[in-house]
Amino acid sequence: MTLPEHQATRLDGKAFAAALRERVGGHVARLKADHGVTPGLAVVLVGADPASEVYVRNKGKQTTEVGMLSFTHRLDADTPQAALLDLVAHLNADPTVHGILVQLPLPAHMDAEAVIDAIAPAKDVDGFHAINVGRLATGQKSLVPCTPLGCLMMLDDLHGPDLSGKSAVVVGRSNIVGKPMAQLLLRRSATVTVAHSRTANLKEVCRGADILVAAVGRAEMIPGDWIKPGATVIDVGINRVTLEDGRSVLRGDVEFASAARVAGAITPVPGGVGPMTIACLLANTLTAACRQHHLPEPEGLTP
Ligand code: GUN
Repeated sequence: MTLPEHQATRLDGKAFAAALRERVGGHVARLKADHGVTPGLAVVLVGADPASEVYVRNKGKQTTEVGMLSFTHRLDADTPQAALLDLVAHLNADPTVHGILVQLPLPAHMDAEAVIDAIAPAKDVDGFHAINVGRLATGQKSLVPCTPLGCLMMLDDLHGPDLSGKSAVVVGRSNIVGKPMAQLLLRRSATVTVAHSRTANLKEVCRGADILVAAVGRAEMIPGDWIKPGATVIDVGINRVTLEDGRSVLRGDVEFASAARVAGAITPVPGGVGPMTIACLLANTLTAACRQHHLPEPEGLTP
């Protein structure tokens, strides 16, 4: 008789995100009814990058579904940076706009840092402005980048808010995911390592992780034998891969089949972290709206 193979718990981000949107929608309805405030999110897309087009369309749809106002601004790829900065200044001053997101990447002639720095920190629902980055690092109230916030919410749900004594390894050091994720894990009292492409003995580093967050953007780079038995694996990678038969599929940074035989819990791709990002963007817009109107902010939407 052979024993059934171990299979990790699949962390269902799609269901988690749907539940979060439901909660956000409830708060939006109360905000409208009790205070006459409708949170508004402005999304700016410069050019026509196909992946960005899909994200922006989904953002607009989900924003209106939770009862918020959605403003989408599309600018031509050759728009001068000054015109984009003018639009950001206009949105900063618009009281119906509580959140501003400028979709990245921007065309090559633009300086993304200068554009992000122009967004009012209180409306920076991406959490990319240096003020919000600094506030997160110093443990102050801030707006937190959406993808790491979504990862944290899923980890909180599984482990509770205290990761004392646990070892967390974040693979990837981007400003959008790796660095803020490390800050959030540190805030939960995990012992945090940030590994990246230049890390020596990456396999051994990963194998030491009770919580492994993969955010490198390389399809299936982390196989099952890099994972500590029973670990929680959060896969942030969304990599488009063409199979031998010509089909195009999405793959994470983790080799799911082998990892699921070792891990205790794992997020699939698609359907794991991905759906949480937009749900957290809506949560951040709600939080930003409450703060701008000096109203109490809903619990559980910020770290
Ligand atoms: N492009 C890919 N992910 C993101 C994100 O989270 N925010 C913005 N503004 N652009 C992105």
